[in-house]
Amino acid sequence: MTLALLRSKAFTTLLSLVLLVDLGQAIQETTTTASTSKDWWETAQFYQIYPRSFKDSDGDGIGDLNGITSKLEYLKDLGVTAAWLSPIFTSPMVDFGYDISDFFDIQPEYGTLDDFRNLIKKANELGLKIILDFVPNHSSDENDWFKKSVKREKGYADYYIWHDGKVNATTGKREPPSNWLQYFRGSAWQWNEERQQYYLHQFAVQQPDLNYRSPDVVAQMKRVLRYWLNEGVAGFRCDTVPTLFEVQPDADGQYPDEAISGITQDPDDRNFLTAKYVEDQPETIDMVYQWRTVLDDYQRIYGGNSSVLLIETYSPAWYTMQFYGNRSVNGAHLPFNFNFISVIEKNGLSAKTVQYSIDLWLQNMPAGRTPNWVLGNHDRRRAASRYGLKHIDAMNMLVMILPGASVTYQGEELGMTDGEISWEDTVDPWACNSNPNIFEQYTRDPERTPFQWTSGTNAGFTQGPTTWLPLAADYKTINVETESAADHSHLTIYKSLTALRRSSKTLQNGNTRYKVLSEDVFVVKRSLSGAASIIYVSNFGSSTVTVNLTEFDKTLPASLGLLIRSLDSKKTDGVKYAIGQLELESGEALVFSTE
Ligand code: NOJ
Ligand code: MG
Repeated sequence: MTLALLRSKAFTTLLSLVLLVDLGQAIQETTTTASTSKDWWETAQFYQIYPRSFKDSDGDGIGDLNGITSKLEYLKDLGVTAAWLSPIFTSPMVDFGYDISDFFDIQPEYGTLDDFRNLIKKANELGLKIILDFVPNHSSDENDWFKKSVKREKGYADYYIWHDGKVNATTGKREPPSNWLQYFRGSAWQWNEERQQYYLHQFAVQQPDLNYRSPDVVAQMKRVLRYWLNEGVAGFRCDTVPTLFEVQPDADGQYPDEAISGITQDPDDRNFLTAKYVEDQPETIDMVYQWRTVLDDYQRIYGGNSSVLLIETYSPAWYTMQFYGNRSVNGAHLPFNFNFISVIEKNGLSAKTVQYSIDLWLQNMPAGRTPNWVLGNHDRRRAASRYGLKHIDAMNMLVMILPGASVTYQGEELGMTDGEISWEDTVDPWACNSNPNIFEQYTRDPERTPFQWTSGTNAGFTQGPTTWLPLAADYKTINVETESAADHSHLTIYKSLTALRRSSKTLQNGNTRYKVLSEDVFVVKRSLSGAASIIYVSNFGSSTVTVNLTEFDKTLPASLGLLIRSLDSKKTDGVKYAIGQLELESGEALVFSTE
């Protein structure tokens, strides 16, 4: 399933139908059993930094590496395990760093290699891990590899996917090799005058797709992995993995056309066509297994901690789960689980859609692998805007109470909401390739506005006069300074959660049961013999309800001690509450302990 497909209205209807059927069967109590002795990443809280928007150190209004380094103590204090950084490499910034012109160096406006080394050093001192974004699918058209490929230089001629195109029998004119569409609207093929051929680009025109059928490309990209492992990184978030391979041309050298999907009438929208030939190919899975070998070999040779692969994929479960590996081979440590984004974005937040999202992962995940839970990223509207601000604590609690790893996008810990960006201020290529009437369907700028550090000028993001994107309107109240000073805030709740996750053997190693209780209420129990059980309960409905938690679990004591409560909850931490008749206001979420 493609990123773009998940945005479409027609698909919403489609998924709703599937959900209705599945949900009917899914409102069952579900139990999973976990094991002990875990590696660091198996219970980690990952934190995504979008470097351009995190912290500016030099006043140009653009975030940078020294800015991140100056805020590592914030991450330490937040209690996260590892930060993954969106791309920091040399780039013309057509797609804000996802178009890399030099995979081995740092973008000058972000800093230098020495700045990066300093960042790693400081992170090591604080016991934080740093993960980089690996962008294997494409490079920038300004990368030397592409320039050499255009010239058919020895060793580079087949680095990208080149094709003569087809001659139209009626008009006699040359046309692209197939009808394939790029993500950012329009044809996925671009004519190159100099080489007199088309090249494939599944994203922007300036992001030519690398050719993974060339052994030189495969070797080069493994070099990229080893290079940054040498610089001390703890792993990679791997960008747009499902588009790595396309189908091979047929015996006549032609590529097949994709069918019309029927999802949208807009012929420039990627969803206009299916993505049968351009995504989810079997060869891609094997390439991820090869990268895992690179990482494992590195550790075997040089020792140290495991480094990890996090895979970006919005593909269906049958494909996504293969990334984990199988009985005979290890694959990615964590293919991202975007169910809390995709399923809920299209079907609304409810106890049922939460249950369905969890089932969809746990019931499809191969045995012995580690689940993970993601609430947002730089491509999706901010979690607090999608779920509603009153549910942000409930969702932050959920991902940290569930077993396995969790992933926070910068600002989710504060309840940051989307910025409002006019067409004039829009910079995202996806939106810029559309028009003023429809750009809001495509733009990713609202979730990329500067991080909110203070209630002061430019939210403390920069000392300079401007910011590369306007600030979100809520920065005066939603920011680190204000929320740290408060007794109870989204931020203090988040910190209590990471602390609990670090200290609780039950959360790290315990069994998991979860269930929809009385329509709107979702409950999770984590338990481990010899330790206190942790109970999560949340009211996702719009009115106050009273539940009986013993209906969920008869073995629970008559009252439970309250550990953590959502921002507006009127209950008191540390007090024991009778669970036979527990009243929950709309949006109220609680974490209890049996002790
Ligand atoms: C997925 C990234 O998250 C997105 O921001 C980017 O535009 C595309 N991949 C292309 O690299
Ligand atoms: Mg700067």
